[in-house]
Amino acid sequence: MKTVITYGSFDLFHQGHYNILKRAKALGDYLIVGVTTDYYDTVRGKLNVVESLMDRIEHVRETGFADKIIIEDHVGQKLEDIQKYHVDIFAIGSDWIGKFDYIKEFCEVVYLERTKGISSTMLRMKNYELIRLGIMGSGRIANRFVGEARYVSGIHVEGVYNPHLKSATAFAEKHELDFAEDDIDEFFSRINAVYIASPHATHGDYAKKALEAGKHVLCEKPFVLTKKEAEELYGIAKKSGLVLMEAIKTAYAPGFVRLMGVAKSGLIGQIKDVESCFTRLTESGLRELTDEKFGGSFTEFGSYVLLPIIKLFGTDPNENRF
Ligand code: CTP
Repeated sequence: MKTVITYGSFDLFHQGHYNILKRAKALGDYLIVGVTTDYYDTVRGKLNVVESLMDRIEHVRETGFADKIIIEDHVGQKLEDIQKYHVDIFAIGSDWIGKFDYIKEFCEVVYLERTKGISSTMLRMKNYELIRLGIMGSGRIANRFVGEARYVSGIHVEGVYNPHLKSATAFAEKHELDFAEDDIDEFFSRINAVYIASPHATHGDYAKKALEAGKHVLCEKPFVLTKKEAEELYGIAKKSGLVLMEAIKTAYAPGFVRLMGVAKSGLIGQIKDVESCFTRLTESGLRELTDEKFGGSFTEFGSYVLLPIIKLFGTDPNENRF
């Protein structure tokens, strides 16, 4: 008996999914289909999977091709499954050519021709609005952000704003963005959300202008430098039904989220004290170390240190006394 295995998210089940399951089944006698969990998709940057795991499994089951359906929830699981189920053939679509050659050590790897003209991404774009993102500021962090954003589905970085057009143009060219702008109104007219990665002193002003133009805002830390400004901006966002977030990525990093969950579960007892610090290997002369005007490391990194404390104890310092 020949056992075949294949994997996918199978979101918004379509003809391409049907075809690949049919072809995979035809390669052997027994087909195992691995369906990704929502968590695993999130971790690998597929942030906009629409259907629940149970629905996606149900659609695979309905085809009648799968003899066994398993769920895939972590990197490295494929090799575990292949050994556990004594798999003879690993099959996957041709969009993955070469990516799974490392599996050849364990079983045969077959790349099946992908069905043209259809994908879950296409269907999502038809039914759900794509986030057309504009970048404000074109410095160090913005450069890293654009590269990473390419791994996230449902979002497209359209263009960049910088009052110095030369910098904006150089950034747009480097990252192959559609446009560079020094006119803020023109910039807002071409996007529906902004990522603010400009110098600290401009955050508040840019965020306010973006919100007033009806754009969702993701703003680098420190979001603003006074509580009053923060309250005002969150007020505008709430009234207008817009998302306003400070970009503390650690709060969403799977490892950190898991850590907080474990700590809160009581597994290590009642938490009475959190000692939190931020360390980083760096060269001297960095803005974070020298910027006296805007608080330097204190405002730039302070949020990382406060994050676990606030997550575990809340925001009222008088509330938790043991
Ligand atoms: N697949 C295919 N033909 C398509 C779309 C997908 O053969 N037109 C295959 C993929 O190569 C993969 C399996 O179906 O082996 C599951 O793919 P999945 O990533 O769930 O579907 P996509 O439509 O590619 O999803 P997305 O657009 O989110 O990447």
